[in-house]
Amino acid sequence: MSARSKPLVGVILGSGLGAVADAVEQPRATSYAELAGFPRPTVEGHAGQLIEGSIAGVPVAVLQGRAHLYEGGPSEAIRTPVRWLRAAGAEILLQTNAAGSLRPEVGPGRLMAITDHINLTGTNPLVGPNDEHIGPRFPSLGRAYDPALLDALRTAAATLGIDLAEGVYTGWLGPSFETAAEIRAIRVLGGDAVGMSTVHETIIARHCGLRVAAVSAITNLAEGLSEVPLSHEQTLADAARAAADLSRLLVTAIPLLVDGAC
Ligand code: HPA
Repeated sequence: MSARSKPLVGVILGSGLGAVADAVEQPRATSYAELAGFPRPTVEGHAGQLIEGSIAGVPVAVLQGRAHLYEGGPSEAIRTPVRWLRAAGAEILLQTNAAGSLRPEVGPGRLMAITDHINLTGTNPLVGPNDEHIGPRFPSLGRAYDPALLDALRTAAATLGIDLAEGVYTGWLGPSFETAAEIRAIRVLGGDAVGMSTVHETIIARHCGLRVAAVSAITNLAEGLSEVPLSHEQTLADAARAAADLSRLLVTAIPLLVDGAC
């Protein structure tokens, strides 16, 4: 990485949201294959490249594609890219994902800022020996999604006239979608959206001192809330619909996030 590319903000793009990378100015792409410990994406909709450049004048590093535990690879593939961003100088991690909504009034095509998460994946990417040079053995997840960064997202959405929902994201291991009964259980627990990513990257990011903001692109109503059968193809199609709004939101929010972090 060249000196001028030291990123301030790292961005992770979720399933079907790779087009958001088109907003990067003067992009320089590196395939994950050239980066030790980075994932080798196995899922359609995840490109597997790092794009460095700037968005609205802010140096960024965009991870186009992420590892998911359901792919069966090592959790190293989730840890390494996030820690790479921190080591490269990033202070903020901005995550995006595709998610199912548990709130009928927040339907496909809407964006939801994540206010907090529930990790129902049954595991934690920090399990194992801890490296104190990276972070503490028992990191706090209080205010895991940074309130000042959330405010920056709200401001950007208001500026653009985007009706940004807010809610709690529930991390689900997958790869099967949830049953209707599981969705009812998640609703009782306090989840507003459900997806198969994000919570682990947030844990790794908070452990190493990155401040986190995250936005879900709602691609479907969760199982049992709609007659539409769930499928990955449908997720990708609806993610593409939300990607345009998401790009606009990120381009407007990123300079505000950096102000908010100061
Ligand atoms: N459940 C889990 N993951 C998802 C969903 C869902 O309904 N939609 C997009 N990713």
